Amino acid sequence: MSLKKETNILITGGAGFIGSHVVRLFVESFPEYKIINLDALTYAGNLENLKDIENRVNYEFIHGDICDTELLDSIFTEKKITHVVHLAAESHVDRSITDPLAFVKTNVIGTVNLLQAARKHWKEGEEHLFYHVSTDEVYGSLGDEGFFYETTAYDPRSPYSASKASSDHFVRAYHHTYGLPIVISNCSNNYGPNHFPEKLIPLMINNIIHKKSLPVYGEGKNVRDWLYVKDHAEAIKQIFLKGKVGETYNVGGHNEWTNIDLVHLLCEIMDEKLGREQGSSKELITFVKDRAGHDLRYAIDATKLKEEIGWEPSLQFEEGLSLTVDWFLENKGWLENVTSGAYLDYYKDTYES
Ligand code: NAD
Ligand code: DAU
Repeated sequence: MSLKKETNILITGGAGFIGSHVVRLFVESFPEYKIINLDALTYAGNLENLKDIENRVNYEFIHGDICDTELLDSIFTEKKITHVVHLAAESHVDRSITDPLAFVKTNVIGTVNLLQAARKHWKEGEEHLFYHVSTDEVYGSLGDEGFFYETTAYDPRSPYSASKASSDHFVRAYHHTYGLPIVISNCSNNYGPNHFPEKLIPLMINNIIHKKSLPVYGEGKNVRDWLYVKDHAEAIKQIFLKGKVGETYNVGGHNEWTNIDLVHLLCEIMDEKLGREQGSSKELITFVKDRAGHDLRYAIDATKLKEEIGWEPSLQFEEGLSLTVDWFLENKGWLENVTSGAYLDYYKDTYES
């Protein structure tokens, strides 16, 4: 895609984990375009993630909810939005099990609200793109063999993945029915700086720092395919620029780990960095009740992205994990800030029930 002068890119969920990396990359890569970050600042959104770029002339933050249709209408009108990169979502599977309706509201209704705004404001023949950032969890769960391809049938199994699958279907439906120019990417598990410590890797890092127990669900044999968040942000930029309208691209790290092996590796890296005796963090591992409906294995085949767009992950996992641990150790204030308030209330209920 060749971007024209009047390009105003609305990024939703830009104060969250992946969104903050995407916003920074777009602000730095496209100085001639305006980047507008719309985020409701839920427990997962944090403007500290964007402190270094908040005064850039091509960046603007709007505090608001994608469920607010009047706000969306005014943003599309006043900011003359030409492109959308949509990341805002409720993103944590465990929370979707305790509160599915919050996921329907933001992930399904919020996405449809954005599609409606784009449909209303964009005219045929103009240059636009609605980019929906989605997940590999829409494909369901794999056995010991095989991969998710772009052609794999949808089979979501948690309220989170059902809400993301539903939003993907709406995005495609708006393309087929109204001709809205869309692209979708489905990515595997991300890790890296700014990751909220309710997800496996940052939760374990936080608990190792504080010598708290390390809760591994079930037997720890579930497998995830991990990708460094900055590699995902770069993939999003490349798909935004070169992706074909109407297409789907899988994004993954070719990097499968069982949860227990991953937690062991983290313990070894952190014992070394914290100057603790090797093996001491592993003693904190506690096998706890399994997640309801826990998907066994995710693994992405990202050949299409490599062959058609030229993207590949840049970092080896051990290197990315080491950088991630360093970031958390250097940003203990960030960890303390986000693990107070609403976060603590949620975990109090979870662990007491
Ligand atoms: P996150 O939970 O860290 O951030 C979500 C952001 O969305 C937060 O800043 C939050 O304030 C904002 N938000 C939530 N509800 C909103 C609403 N109603 N209106 C406006 N803003 C709202 O999530 P993440 O892990 O960065 O994931 C971002 C996107 O990428 C999601 O769509 C997720 O499904 C997708 N994804 C995530 C992963 C992963 O491993 N984390 C992998 C693949 C795809
Ligand atoms: O695959 C992409 C998805 O990855 C994204 O769409 C989601 O937004 C993101 O949250 C992530 O989902 P997972 O459920 O795979 O991530 P999570 O970090 O919650 O869990 C990773 C694995 O670790 C999973 O098998 C559950 C397990 N786990 C998780 C936590 C939080 C534990 O064993 N203990 C824990 O305390």
